[in-house]
This record gives sequence, C-alpha cells and structure tokens, in this order.
Amino acid sequence: MKKFNLLFAMVAAILLLAACNQSKKEMVTKELYGNFKGKEVYLLTLTNKSGNVLKLTNFGARITWIEVPDRNGNKDNITFGFDTFDGMIGGDPYYGAVVGRYANRIAKGKFTLDGVEYTLPINNGPNSLHGGPAGWHSQAWDTEIPEDTDFPTVKFTYKSPDMEAGFPGNMTVEALYTWTDNSEIIIDYTLTTDKRTVFNITNHAYFNLHGAGIGDILDHQLVIKASKFVAVDTFLIPTGELRQVEGTPFDFNTPHTVGERIAQDYDQLKFANGYDHTFVFDNNEEVDATVYEPVSGRFMEVISDQPGVQFYCGNFLNGTRIGYGGKPYTHRSGLCLETGHFPDSPNHPDFPSTVLNPGETFKSRTIYRFSVK
Ligand code: BGC
Repeated sequence: MKKFNLLFAMVAAILLLAACNQSKKEMVTKELYGNFKGKEVYLLTLTNKSGNVLKLTNFGARITWIEVPDRNGNKDNITFGFDTFDGMIGGDPYYGAVVGRYANRIAKGKFTLDGVEYTLPINNGPNSLHGGPAGWHSQAWDTEIPEDTDFPTVKFTYKSPDMEAGFPGNMTVEALYTWTDNSEIIIDYTLTTDKRTVFNITNHAYFNLHGAGIGDILDHQLVIKASKFVAVDTFLIPTGELRQVEGTPFDFNTPHTVGERIAQDYDQLKFANGYDHTFVFDNNEEVDATVYEPVSGRFMEVISDQPGVQFYCGNFLNGTRIGYGGKPYTHRSGLCLETGHFPDSPNHPDFPSTVLNPGETFKSRTIYRFSVK
C-alpha cells in the first residue's frame, strides 16, 4: 500500500511538472512577423494567468497590443499598432517603441561633452528628435525568452555602435518586459557604454483606454504627481525654466480630464498645440501618474524611478496613419506617458544628468499597471 502511495505521489509530481512546463511554454509564443535589413522580426504574444494579452515585437522593442477588460469584462486592445509589419516600417510613428539614444529633442542637434561637440541628425524642425530617423525604435533588436520566470517575460537587446546617429560610445541596451498576472507591464532597462556618452531611454506607447481607434482621449482623467513641469519654446525646446504647475492648466495633482483646460489661453499650451511637456515627478508617492477612462472603467497606473514623464496627448496625430482594423489614429486619439529624463538635458547642466560613464550600469524600471474601477 505504502509503495503504491509513493508511486502515485511520484507520478502526480511528474504530471504537475509537465503541466507547469507546458503552461510556461504557452505564456509566451513567438511567430515570424517580418524581416528587416536581413534580421528576423518576431511577434511575441504574452498571456498572463488572467488571460490578458500583451504583444511585443523586437522591431524597436515595441509594445504592439495590450488587451485588457473593461469593467464588464469585455476585452479590447488599448494601444496603437498595425495589422501587419509593413504598416510599422511604412513611417515613423514610434508606436509602443523603445526610443533612444536620446528620447525627445536635442536643440539644433548639437551638444558638447568633455569639450567635444557632437552633431546629430536633424529631423524635427531645426532639432533632433528621438535619436534621429534611424533611432532605436527602427532597429531589429535581438530577442530572448528567459526561462524560469514567474510571469511571461521577453528580453530585447540592441548593440548601438559608436557614433550611431552621432552619439559617442558603443552602448548595449536591454529592455526586459514582464507581463504580471495582475496585468502590469514591467519594463526593466539596462544600459552600458564603453565611452562617456549621453542617453535618454523611454517607451513611446500610445494609450486610449476606450480601445485603440475608438474616439479621443480628451475625456481621460489624468493625475500626475508633479509640482513642476519643463517649460518650452515654440520648437518644444526647454527654456531652462522649471515652472510651478500650481494655478496653471498643468496642475494634474488632482484628477482633471485631458480636455478640460487644453484650449485655455496659456502660452505653453499654445506653443505645443496642447500638452507635450515633461512633468517633473515629485517622486514621493508609489504611483507617479494615473489615467482613468470613465466609460469603460479602465484605469492605468504609471510607476517610475525616472526624474519625469513626457505627457504627450497626440496633438500631431492626424488620421493619416491607419492602425488595427483599418482604424485611423486621429488627432488626440491616444496619449503617451513617456518616463525618462528631460528633453535637451545635455545642453542644460542644471537638469538631472544624462551622462553615462564606461564601467557604470544604468538600470531603471517603469511599470504600467491596468485594472478597472
Ligand atoms: C514628442 C512629440 C512628438 C512625438 C512623436 C513625443 O515624445 O514629445 O512632440 O511629436 O513624440 O511621436
């Protein structure tokens, strides 16, 4: 009888292990999505225990699909993307991409480091934006599906060569995505360099909590825990002023809809045609920003260890880019909360430093957490 019990326990353990392995395998699936400059591009589908789905691609280490329920349990994708890989390479919308070497603008595409002046590609008026036209968002990264993880996880790695887009130093960049069972996207960035350099890394996902391509985001209720924001000029280059939000349409310390004050006669809103500014995190609460969409009940929390967040409300979207299901992404139909450093920091010594030295490892984490209210 005892022998039988032992045998039974062993068989049960083997079956359990096999089942675990099986479910691990099913947590992340990888399929060929396209080809870019001789490298394979994959679509990775991560399914968590709640049955919610996150899709990623190694082209630009992008988030391409976030499928989460509304308060009635109806699931929809709430981020921008394309039906095919061709849509993604047919332009430069940065949807869901990891942006580098320098996310956001560098004035006139010039900065000086240790007495050497560096020149970057100009691709936004007179300025350089998002690492130039061939930045990290438009490169095929290496893909790895780590084993022995508690949640579905994918690691993308990119080796950015010395003087790529004008920046010094060979950099190795890792973006590790984890899709937890309570529907948090955890992005862990790790960067190293072999020469002193500057960088600013972010994720450029567009969110519309109604569902991607359904209406605009003006009714989304936003909170950003920031008492200051980075004031800009008409080219969206920081003037150097960190302006108090108090008494301005930039005070999101208590919930306000995006649309509530967007048309106010306020210089910064006029310069950017809406919100397109870095908010300086107070960094004294666990959650740095939240977005609530009252129709679906979807709620998103943003948690970051970075100095700020670029809140961009899709002012430059104009419907010419056709996304999932043939839906155009129209003016203000998505918002971005791009965590990171301030624009043009290499030209502002009083801003938090964006310098990385050889021998140092930069590590940073941003979390986007989804639920309903
Ligand atoms: C910038 C916008 C820009 C957009 C491009 C944002 O990070 O702040 O000004 O138009 O990226 O998708």
